[in-house]
Amino acid sequence: MGGGTKMSLGLNDEEAELVAQARAAAEHAYAPYSDYQVGAALRFADDAVITGSNVENASYGLALCAETVAVARALGEGRRGGLAKVAVVGPLDKGVGAPITPCGRCRQVLNELAQLGGTDPEVLCVGKDEVRRVALSDLLPHAFGPAHLD
Ligand code: THU
Repeated sequence: MGGGTKMSLGLNDEEAELVAQARAAAEHAYAPYSDYQVGAALRFADDAVITGSNVENASYGLALCAETVAVARALGEGRRGGLAKVAVVGPLDKGVGAPITPCGRCRQVLNELAQLGGTDPEVLCVGKDEVRRVALSDLLPHAFGPAHLD
């Protein structure tokens, strides 16, 4: 994909920065069981960025994904919308190097924050040689969300 520096991958400067922040967050992942470090970065309409990394547990099934941690941090800081873009980065030296896409629960968790603010953020799924851009509504069509409970 696209020329230029190794990690340009068709990203504009703002997106490249968001991906860099997701990558930096992955360095703080607590993933001693899977050894699969993931970082997520959420960009908001006011240009704020909130990150998260996966947090595992000796009780394996209790692992929290990076995207879920990032959304929890955002909601915990009082944010209730304005979610404009998401970047998700996994360890590029592991697996097949394909773009990492949010798991099912994370799609639902991301949808909560997006639907609260009426946005449909683009999710930058970062792989070794490719960044896949997917609208959250394409990752989770016909989403159930807070609007259903009004
Ligand atoms: N993981 C994430 O943090 N985000 C994803 O989108 C997929 C998976 C984490 C969960 C677990 O700690 C590790 O990656 C391996 O599944």
